[in-house]
Amino acid sequence: MNEDGSGIIILDQSLLPGEEKYIELKTPEEFYEAIRTLQVRGAPAIGIFAAFAMAVIAGREAEPKSIRSCCGASLTSDETFMNTMKKFGDYLKSSRPTAVNLAWAVDRIIHAVRIRIQQARREDPLRPDANAGARVLAETVLKEAEAIRNEDIEMCLSISRHGLSLLSDGDGILTHCNAGPLATSRYGTALGPIILGTEQGMKFHVFADETRPLLQGARLTTYELMKAGADVTLICDNMASIVMSRGLVNACFVGCDRIAANGDTANKIGTSGVAILAGHYGIPFYVLGPTSTVDLSCPDGSRIPIEERNPEEIVSKYYDRPVAPEGVKCFNPAFDVTPAGLITAIITEKGILKPPYTDSLRDALK
Ligand code: MRU
Repeated sequence: MNEDGSGIIILDQSLLPGEEKYIELKTPEEFYEAIRTLQVRGAPAIGIFAAFAMAVIAGREAEPKSIRSCCGASLTSDETFMNTMKKFGDYLKSSRPTAVNLAWAVDRIIHAVRIRIQQARREDPLRPDANAGARVLAETVLKEAEAIRNEDIEMCLSISRHGLSLLSDGDGILTHCNAGPLATSRYGTALGPIILGTEQGMKFHVFADETRPLLQGARLTTYELMKAGADVTLICDNMASIVMSRGLVNACFVGCDRIAANGDTANKIGTSGVAILAGHYGIPFYVLGPTSTVDLSCPDGSRIPIEERNPEEIVSKYYDRPVAPEGVKCFNPAFDVTPAGLITAIITEKGILKPPYTDSLRDALK
């Protein structure tokens, strides 16, 4: 957040690696657009960002009554405050549907506000309509946002340690998309073990899939690993098979956007192809993510909503001129689902979970 709590300052990921530009966002529309356009991206990072965006709007609700709130209601009761939070939370949730961390963080904030309102009523039993007050509720929101961020830092460190225990010095690792510090709070998930191990003097050879069409691997994973001093080689997505066939990959490490109750996992488009190749070549395929990415209400991968994005991303976004005929039909899903059967283990902050995931995930979330 910025100094007076009126906005959020982020590193605009859409401009990396060419430009390291920090931007300040203040309005609901700016928050929404930042998520939609991937200025902030990566499942845990958008959850944390959404939580702080809610803290900004909550702080505005706590300003004097003459100032109108973001969503049209004027600041009054706890009920009004809650309605504003819910309305803004739903708006944010609609920006990107697949990563469950976004909805998880919004719902967690709403829950914290609800608990605080109930507490105020319990503290004043003679007045069932007692208000906690917008200032107190805004503080609650900010505290919860900070807790979400701090817990993510701890979770990433723990995931990194568990992931590192699966690696040996000199290993070759293939990764897809970007699941590093930019996509989380610190260390990252899939890149966490690599960065942690590199800090400890270990040497790995990382193959980063470029990750068409938005090039998170080419733009962000290489940028982060080079900064961390790790050895990284960029490959096009369709080159994964040849590096695997040559024995250059000992393990695949990928992040996740939503893990269903049976272990089916949504991650960046192309991830399931990597898993199929890894299965063919007998290479372990690991999914790394915090338990906030697990959605037990989703029984299997067929229920995970898959975001579809603008065809312009395939045809022209990173090219001087369009690479396909004008008007060509395109299909641009942003994620795919890797079936649980192709996943060797799911590495969470709670430990290394093994199949059957229906049991191990349920136990980890108890
Ligand atoms: O569309 P993106 O760039 O937000 O997709 C991100 C991914 O698929 C990541 O692998 C995932 O969010 C894990 S981030 C720790």
